Amino acid sequence: MLSNLFSPIRIGSMTSKNRLLMSAMSINFGVDDSCCVTDQLVEYFIERARGGVGMMLVGGGSVHPGGQELPDLPQMYNDDCIPALKDMVQRVKKYDTLFGVQLMHGGRQSYLPQKVAPSPIPAPAVVKGEVRALEIDEIKELISCFGDSARRCQTAGFDFVELHGAHGYLINQFMAQNSNIRTDEYGGSFENRTRFLFEIIEDIQAKTGKDFPIGIRINGNDYIENGWDLESTVRIAPLLGKAGVVYLHISGGVYGSTELTIPSMYTPHGCFVHLAQ
Ligand SMILES: Cc1cc2nc3c(=O)[nH]c(=O)nc-3n(C[C@H](O)[C@H](O)[C@H](O)COP(=O)(O)O)c2cc1C
Repeated sequence: MLSNLFSPIRIGSMTSKNRLLMSAMSINFGVDDSCCVTDQLVEYFIERARGGVGMMLVGGGSVHPGGQELPDLPQMYNDDCIPALKDMVQRVKKYDTLFGVQLMHGGRQSYLPQKVAPSPIPAPAVVKGEVRALEIDEIKELISCFGDSARRCQTAGFDFVELHGAHGYLINQFMAQNSNIRTDEYGGSFENRTRFLFEIIEDIQAKTGKDFPIGIRINGNDYIENGWDLESTVRIAPLLGKAGVVYLHISGGVYGSTELTIPSMYTPHGCFVHLAQ
């Protein structure tokens, strides 16, 4: 059944030497006071790359200081981060792995006391604090922050970026009805709730060119009342392919999911879907 596991696969413009991907983890170490990466993070990834994985992701790549999920995650929100990222890429790429960054904004699941989200609804679990609804101009600014961050990753030499659209973070908050009760063009219908995501993809493509691979992690199901569900996933998948996304990394659950039986709230990630172009 796993006979192809160690054979190469083409994903967009990339070829992975095998079918193993180390999924993104926000490990909350390996950055300095400005959240630029340090040798500790480089050495962590070198060890993982030496293990032989075909694709790897830096987790928690923060696109905006107000969306930092945890204090010690690598920032992609200003150009000062580029030299250290470049050095990391050069040292890790010697081990023949595709190296990407998962870009994220925590929204109402950021660790900061003042949080922003599509609507002023606190997260159901884990984080506490005030949540303020984003104004339209702030939404546009955040879209642009994703594009600028992807451009920095490309400049640093990363092979691809992945958007964190799962697990109850900002993109997922826009997509799910229980966290998005907006009545403007970013809320309501399926089309409006997914607009934030599609505008991010467009902004990235405008700033990096269409050949720079974009993957996305989304939940197949949030497993929470009125959350993002399987029907919506089936509906969005071909649209993401059409928009130029090269893979879907399907996960499940948000913090506070009621139907999950495991305590961490993370389901083991389900599957990785390569979108034929
Ligand atoms: C400490 C920790 C941090 C994580 N951070 C992220 C993250 O930033 N983004 C993400 O998509 N998944 C994150 N995850 C989920 C993992 O990517 C993965 O889906 C989960 O660990 C289950 O996979 P496994 O069974 O291979 O461990 C995190 C998991 C752990 C344990």
